[in-house]
Amino acid sequence: MNACDIIFKTKRKQPLSANEMKWLINGYVSGEVPDYQVSAWLMAVCLNGLSEEETKNLTLIMRDSGEKIDLSGIDGITVDKHSTGGIGDKTSLIIAPVCAACGIKVPKMSGRGLGFTGGTIDKLESIQGFNVDLERENYIDTVNRVGTAIIAQSGNLVPADKKLYALRDVTSTVDSIPLICASIMSKKLAIGSDCILLDVKTGSGAFMKNINDAERLASLMVETGRNAGKKCRAVITDMNQPLGKAVGNALEVIEAVEVLKGREKGRLYELCMVLAANMLELAGKGSLQECRAFAENAVECGDALRIFKKMISAQGGDAGFINNYSLLPEAKHKIEIKAKESGYIAEIDSEGIGFVSLLTGAGRTGKDDAIDYSAGLIINFGLGDYAEKDSVLMTLYSNDKNKLEEAARRAENIFRLTDRPTDQPPLIYSDI
Ligand code: URA
Repeated sequence: MNACDIIFKTKRKQPLSANEMKWLINGYVSGEVPDYQVSAWLMAVCLNGLSEEETKNLTLIMRDSGEKIDLSGIDGITVDKHSTGGIGDKTSLIIAPVCAACGIKVPKMSGRGLGFTGGTIDKLESIQGFNVDLERENYIDTVNRVGTAIIAQSGNLVPADKKLYALRDVTSTVDSIPLICASIMSKKLAIGSDCILLDVKTGSGAFMKNINDAERLASLMVETGRNAGKKCRAVITDMNQPLGKAVGNALEVIEAVEVLKGREKGRLYELCMVLAANMLELAGKGSLQECRAFAENAVECGDALRIFKKMISAQGGDAGFINNYSLLPEAKHKIEIKAKESGYIAEIDSEGIGFVSLLTGAGRTGKDDAIDYSAGLIINFGLGDYAEKDSVLMTLYSNDKNKLEEAARRAENIFRLTDRPTDQPPLIYSDI
């Protein structure tokens, strides 16, 4: 086999056999096939796509390129959730204890964030002492005892994706539905849960800007997961505005705790209830309606908060912050961004919010950059809300005054206000 023939076939929309795909991907991981040939192949995939069969083969070859997590030591059915990424998305922190409180096991492996905001792991690392690197045995034991544990993705999980993603990032080949599907599903399959719920975001702040593309990606991921023997479902959800009020690591942890305390009932709570209900139903806990009631009750009766607390302690964290938020990192400086005119919020530049959050120090641009866990922003208005002139649209936080001032300059044009009432977009578009 040779790489030129493989590139030629994809360029001419001729199908690749599983063996050809394996030769290319394994050759790239081992260093025998060079970057420039894989770049050419990735661009051919971007332009011409892959068939469902080819996407399935690519996903499985990538899954098998490194370590696979053995969850057989966990008693009961295991359920995982993946979101395709959005600004202010802290749903994992809420859903994992809610589902565990309803009797399913949620072993979660998450990533650190690269780009606008921290990932789930960065958020958890803002908690004093929290250990995201549990040994395998301790991880399984914690899930069995508590119902959930959230740890960092192992370094040797799907090395093919690490190499391919880095190459896609610098060759403008990230935005390909089969490549995104294989990247996400190879990791989910290597992580090993019985059931997988996919939260596919659509809108101005998401990878998939329109609903059609989001649905195509969702169908492909669900089919690929089912082909690999998993129970799989996807929900298409809105990302035309940040999810919830907080963006930034410690700030998002506080918002998640407020939801778990039953004090926060907006779009974030609603999405968490929908996702948790779907996870419980996938695990066979009852009808969607019954599962929704279980999830709501887990918050109402305090069980979800108790499990969250137990998970923090089991992973070495100081759970005292749950009743005293000042134990979390607090920023030294803040700046308020005020409305220049009165009006209805017609547009929120979600990517702009992400960029502002990065400027405050809440995210990282290189994988070794330090994060300011206290940094980020709190947004006071959503789409469709009415804001009076001079009301505080959002407050930015940082320990670095210069960064904060730069973030504030960037934050000036995030909100577009109009005279006429505007609609809230739906939260959920469809499911697959
Ligand atoms: N997230 C991933 O893990 N991979 C992609 O390709 C896109 C989003």
